[in-house]
Amino acid sequence: MSKTQENLKAAFAGESQANRKYLAFAKVAEKEGKVNLAKLFRAVAEGETIHALKHLNNTGEVKDSIENIKAAIAGETYEVETMYPGFITQAEEESNGGAKMSFVGAKEVEKTHKAAFEKALSAVEAGKDIPEAQYYICGICGELFEGQVPDNCPVCKAPKDKFYQI
Ligand SMILES: [Fe+2]
Ligand SMILES: [Fe+2]
Repeated sequence: MSKTQENLKAAFAGESQANRKYLAFAKVAEKEGKVNLAKLFRAVAEGETIHALKHLNNTGEVKDSIENIKAAIAGETYEVETMYPGFITQAEEESNGGAKMSFVGAKEVEKTHKAAFEKALSAVEAGKDIPEAQYYICGICGELFEGQVPDNCPVCKAPKDKFYQI
């Protein structure tokens, strides 16, 4: 990998993280009643997303939908089978309960993501779009629901009034 390719990946990671950090900072500003500061954080966050996407496009990692779904499945599989199990073990060793909870919850949701992408792949490989569906997200843990929603999130037990539609 060339140095510039490495730099593009690093810049994509940094700008992506800046985007999510500024959105988290905006929430704090809102809680503090500083609505204008919140707006500034959200405005700058938008710019960071534009930078992140430009860097990503220049890496060549954004391809057609068949390749993109395969990349998504590979990423979700890595998270479920390798990354989070290792992170969970490490968090246990370091008695970091908060980190462990965060990793365990994410690992469960990544399983749902993996399954959803695997289901999508066959339709897209057949040259079609996937069937229309209603998607809901658990606002507590990020679990994905398609169509009917349960009364409680199976991952974090949150009641369904915490879910929102995409
Ligand atoms: Fe995921
Ligand atoms: Fe949840």
